[in-house]
Amino acid sequence: MRAWLLDSYEGVEKLRFDEVADPQPGPGQVIVRIILAALNPADAFLAQAQYPARPTFPHILGRDGVGEVVALAPDVQNVKLGDIVGILRGDTGVEAWGTLAEKTAVDAAHLIPIPTGWSYEEIAGAPLVYLTAWQALTQWSEPAAAPATGSVLLVTGASGGVGSAAVLLGKSMGLTVIALTRSAEKGAQLKQLGADFVFDPAEKTLRKSILAAIAPKRVDVVVDSVGGALFNEIVNTLGYAGRISVVGRSGGTVPEFNTASLFFRRNRIGGVTVGDYTPEQAKDAWQQIVDRLNTLGKRPVVDGVFAFVDVKKAFARLAEGPMGKVLVKVAH
Ligand SMILES: NC(=O)c1ccc[n+]([C@@H]2O[C@H](COP(=O)([O-])OP(=O)(O)OC[C@H]3O[C@@H](n4cnc5c(N)ncnc54)[C@H](OP(=O)(O)O)[C@@H]3O)[C@@H](O)[C@H]2O)c1
Repeated sequence: MRAWLLDSYEGVEKLRFDEVADPQPGPGQVIVRIILAALNPADAFLAQAQYPARPTFPHILGRDGVGEVVALAPDVQNVKLGDIVGILRGDTGVEAWGTLAEKTAVDAAHLIPIPTGWSYEEIAGAPLVYLTAWQALTQWSEPAAAPATGSVLLVTGASGGVGSAAVLLGKSMGLTVIALTRSAEKGAQLKQLGADFVFDPAEKTLRKSILAAIAPKRVDVVVDSVGGALFNEIVNTLGYAGRISVVGRSGGTVPEFNTASLFFRRNRIGGVTVGDYTPEQAKDAWQQIVDRLNTLGKRPVVDGVFAFVDVKKAFARLAEGPMGKVLVKVAH
């Protein structure tokens, strides 16, 4: 089969398009013929040794995708040959070969059906980022597992895969959603998705503008994938018991963080680790996500679809900041 091979930690620019032997299903596994794969920043981080996984070379990146079941181990019962399946979060593209290949071996426990009415494009890149946004929104056990209707959610990097998922899931929970994006064009798209307010994170009076927009409320929950200098601004928008779910740090390290900013309003910061979900927890969360999107009448956002030979262009698009998911068409 044809695949994009990672031979070293010199980044995705060094990926090699070549032939490798087809994968064979191990116990409990199926072979999925990939139709669409989806990119995540974690792929690019792994390719630069900036991710905990250290797979053996050559490795195949790609954690998300949709495809057809073309072979299965004798003990697999939940899918059959010819089924079209999505891949829920697992080891695919981390320690195991991933979806930037014509075929990949996946644990059957990580497969999901295509939600009714969804296109292949809509499912292909949704699982990882939607599960991440879900954990970010629901991980707080006190005062409640999920923010109450009418609470204020602030999403940084809102145009990205996780960000756009958090905006939609936030709207499904009845939250007032503030979205941050550096692009006016993507800001208009975020308004169409349902964001109540959109701001440019570079705005000098950002904190004042946010608080004026939601007065007399303050921010209850933040889904933050940017960090950097923006982080201190965000902390200062929080209300009493306000919480920040830290998903990523595209904006780099946080300069001169003052812990005192946390203790007057009992604010909390918590990391998000989507890999912590067991297959059962991931499936349960995924079902709730699909139900919520269906009720809202919205679908995962797709930025664009690149040809299989253009994987490096697809990674370049991901690096410049997409609006939703960047996909790669592997087969028809
Ligand atoms: N903790 C976990 O379990 C987990 C799971 C999934 C992802 N992540 C991490 O979360 C982050 C976001 O993932 P994603 O899939 O949403 O990525 P993405 O689709 O590339 O989107 C990230 C968005 O952040 C904004 N951004 C990028 N660089 C920025 C900068 N320097 N300053 C300000 N904004 C910037 C961009 O929005 P604008 O151009 O519109 O400003 C971009 O669209 C990544 O770091 C990823 O590795 C973590």
